[in-house]
Amino acid sequence: MSGKGGVGKSSVAALLAVTLRQQGQRVGVLDADITGPSIPRMFGLHETPPMGPVGILPAETKTGIRVMSINLLLPDEDEAVIWRGPLVGGAIRQFWGDVVWGDLDVLVVDLPPGTSDASLTVMQSIPLNGVVLVTSPQDLAGMVVRKAARMAWQMKVSIVGLVENMSYAVCPKCGERIEVFGPSQAMGTAMQLGVPMLGQLPLDPELAHVCDTGAIEDYAVDVFEPIAAKITERASARPSTPIF
Ligand SMILES: Nc1ncnc2c1ncn2[C@@H]1O[C@H](COP(=O)(O)OP(=O)(O)O)[C@@H](O)[C@H]1O
Ligand SMILES: [Mg+2]
Repeated sequence: MSGKGGVGKSSVAALLAVTLRQQGQRVGVLDADITGPSIPRMFGLHETPPMGPVGILPAETKTGIRVMSINLLLPDEDEAVIWRGPLVGGAIRQFWGDVVWGDLDVLVVDLPPGTSDASLTVMQSIPLNGVVLVTSPQDLAGMVVRKAARMAWQMKVSIVGLVENMSYAVCPKCGERIEVFGPSQAMGTAMQLGVPMLGQLPLDPELAHVCDTGAIEDYAVDVFEPIAAKITERASARPSTPIF
């Protein structure tokens, strides 16, 4: 989660799923962003998932990641979902309770920006091992991520750590690292919050391209592997939260 939109929450959620799936884990992605769902697009999923005998089945990506998102249920990807909080919460609870996920090792939940209804429903209705905070180098993103952290504390959900996205770009000619948005604030933010810094991701046109073309499973995830390892280690060391 993050306080802000566009910092890369969905990209980080998808990369985490792809990395863990490549390691052979059984992975699901629950897209809790009801008004701005972007997970199906990243995985190139368009088909409405089938109805099973006891509930709706998740869609399956080409490498076998199970996905549920409101966008898979809309007649048209561009259709807007204009719902008030209770309906958004209801959809998320159904994605958790009524979708036949089967046996999973990991369920990654992608949240919308902010600390509103969807985040509240996820924290109240789904037993969580922890939240991963995503930020970008701009200070404003750091300020809003602190709000997300406060929400997690208030809801008694542990924070796995902080990922900084778009930290730098690598010059394709000379390999120099360029801090496009200025020096990173993430270490300072992580220390201030007392949460572990999980790693930094570069600004990479290839990542934007694979997200847009539904080919995130083809992305070379080596840059994400150390981050995924830290997330798995820290999240599995924590008990899941009770649900209300
Ligand atoms: N490290 C990155 N390098 C290049 N493009 C990125 C990177 N992270 C995210 N993007 C792109 O930026 C846009 C917003 O990312 P997204 O993950 O959807 O953000 P959020 O879920 O926080 O709103 C997407 O088009 C995505 O492909
Ligand atoms: Mg998103």
